[in-house]
Amino acid sequence: MSPRPFIVAIDGPAGAGKSSVSKLLARRLGFALVDTGAIYRCVALMATREGIAFDDDAKLGELLGRVRIHFQVVGEENHVFLSGEDVSGEIRTPAISMGASQVSGRPVVRAGLLALQRRLALEAQAGAILEGRDIGTVVFPDADAKFFLAADPEVRARRRFEELFQKGVDSSLEAVLTDQTQRDTADSARTVAPLKAADDAMHVDSSSMPLSDVVRTLEQEIERRRGQR
Ligand code: DC
Repeated sequence: MSPRPFIVAIDGPAGAGKSSVSKLLARRLGFALVDTGAIYRCVALMATREGIAFDDDAKLGELLGRVRIHFQVVGEENHVFLSGEDVSGEIRTPAISMGASQVSGRPVVRAGLLALQRRLALEAQAGAILEGRDIGTVVFPDADAKFFLAADPEVRARRRFEELFQKGVDSSLEAVLTDQTQRDTADSARTVAPLKAADDAMHVDSSSMPLSDVVRTLEQEIERRRGQR
């Protein structure tokens, strides 16, 4: 039997740099990249399109059986496809961000997405990087390397604002900060799988660290752990 792919868990709040770091790391290491936030966003998008309320557990439960997601690198970006449709842009609007935060607080949704997240990672050849909120605590408590990325709230909001601006999404720094604070509070306070660092995660604060240094720090730790496997 071939060994399980090497699993890297990267957790942390919105805007801590998880996406940029994961993308660069995945490319450098030749690992698959599973953006679990994008999966919750796809559920929020499906619910919105079908007129399902974000707290309607019965309808959300039925919807989960129809979630078909795959990731594919297109150019420099990790695109997400929902039933074959590229929804990478559509899932990044403020309304879907808030919807994703809400549906992710429903136990039925979290439980229903566990198998999908694990399968997407285990299908990888050499290894997989999963980024999210509960990867090291719930999805892969036995991940081979775990990281918790943090940064000051103002720094995170500015990064998110600039990212949205570059993608042509109309917003303001104040609106992004307000949204982020609301989501951070909801994500940390919920009873199921709250945003929380795993006990054995390496903490990295990227507030005043260039992206390249963060990537190097994580890569060194991953290589060290690969050597031990
Ligand atoms: O990382 P993101 O901003 O794309 O995530 C969108 C929402 O999904 C976020 O508010 C929290 C939720 N989420 C989660 O609860 N668990 C994960 N593993 C990933 C995201």
